[in-house]
Amino acid sequence: MQRTLIKNISPLVGSEVLVQGWIDVRRDQGKMVFLDLRDYTGKIQGVVLPNHTEALDVAQKLRTEWVVEVTAQVNERPEKNIKADVVNGDVELEILSIQVLNEAETPAFDISTDGLEVGETVRMEYKYLDQRRARIQRNMRTRHRVIKYIRDYLDKESFTEVETPLLTNPTPEGARSYLVPSRIYPGSFYALPQSPQQYKQLLMVGGLEKYFQIARCMRDEDTRGDRQPEFTQLDIEMSFATKEEVRSLNESLLIALISSLFPEKRIQTVPFPVITYKESMEKYGNDRPDLREDKNDPNLLSFAWIVDFPFFEKTGEENLDGTGEWTFTHNPFSKAQDKYKEDLLKKENVGEIIAEQYDITLNGFEIGGGSIREHNADALRKVFEIMGYSDERIDGNFGHMLKALKSGCPPHGGIAWGLDRLLMILLNEPNIREVIAFPKTGEGKDLLMESPSPAPEKTLKELKISINK
Ligand code: AMO
Repeated sequence: MQRTLIKNISPLVGSEVLVQGWIDVRRDQGKMVFLDLRDYTGKIQGVVLPNHTEALDVAQKLRTEWVVEVTAQVNERPEKNIKADVVNGDVELEILSIQVLNEAETPAFDISTDGLEVGETVRMEYKYLDQRRARIQRNMRTRHRVIKYIRDYLDKESFTEVETPLLTNPTPEGARSYLVPSRIYPGSFYALPQSPQQYKQLLMVGGLEKYFQIARCMRDEDTRGDRQPEFTQLDIEMSFATKEEVRSLNESLLIALISSLFPEKRIQTVPFPVITYKESMEKYGNDRPDLREDKNDPNLLSFAWIVDFPFFEKTGEENLDGTGEWTFTHNPFSKAQDKYKEDLLKKENVGEIIAEQYDITLNGFEIGGGSIREHNADALRKVFEIMGYSDERIDGNFGHMLKALKSGCPPHGGIAWGLDRLLMILLNEPNIREVIAFPKTGEGKDLLMESPSPAPEKTLKELKISINK
């Protein structure tokens, strides 16, 4: 007999089915045993009656989370037991035979709840059990649908998805990079990308014109509720596009995505308000204002574009990329607005220079950011000079970009969304760990795989690395 998925059982009243899945709930009443079965499509109630003695014997040994295969007769439930609002609420299985496919130790926690009452450490340690709960199943499946929607939408708009390297050189996004030691070149390291920023710009030089990527980014920075060391961006870059065109594409995509996949949500203001950085700071005291008219409404979405950011800020302790007095606020590859071009070239009034930079915020979170880029090599060099980089460092770290800009680089710009943050808000989750299949702790640990972990002596030797404890 072929497997029948639980969601397809209800119309099969009167026939026999084979069902495979987990024991969700078991109630032993001695003479008969009630078993709720679960697969990835749903749940169904079953009963083992006294006359099926062999099945009853097995049923009495079963525990929750055991994996079974049963054959059963599909019956209508008696009128008084029908639950109209529940999947399979009108049918039940009369279980005829049970085969145990695998036993399970008593789960470390209850998986029938939303899990938010369970300590997060133990949920992470047993992530595969945590994933069985309905809420996490929903989050993983919704994440898939959102990504698929984005891919299909951008494909129709003639974008091409390109994978860019993970083993690369540092690209500055304001955090520390993770380093990967090279075995072949002892003492040399790859960096894991903080974003595909340089590669996507190089793809514009390469003539692709419309790029996107569901891109993994790695940043060694302090973790918090909306930050993970490893996260996912929707990364976009477009040639010959104005900032209005970049914003308009992203706005249309967000609106279409939400109306298709989250019809219960209401977007407060369309088109999204555009607010300058200065106005936002003056009016709300921050650059990601929560503009919701009712903050208790879980289905209200309030987007805004924040524009006209200062290009540079004074170097502080947190500014890892600055060696001089100034560092970039967002991205060194951004373009200064035209009216500040002279100031940039003369390296004057640095604090006044406004960049062609835009962020997108949602309900008080920064869910994305991007800019029109500097496609003139001389102007880009000035940016690095303002940050106090020596000529040697500029040529060493960014020579390839300067060279590329001089080889017929079209004007271009783009954006990246924090996909985890967007999903967190759309799914009404308290933090991004809930929308990531295998998240890390606040201290950057993967408790399931137990990473990071010390490397074996032999490996370190091969890499010519000695640990200074
Ligand atoms: P930025 O650094 O602003 O821009 O990143 C874009 C968006 O990514 C999200 N984000 C994060 N999400 C989870 N964990 C993190 N540690 C984390 N860091 C950032 C935020 C943010 O808005 N290359 C540029 C984009 C561009 O200019 O096109 C960039 O990476 O939602």
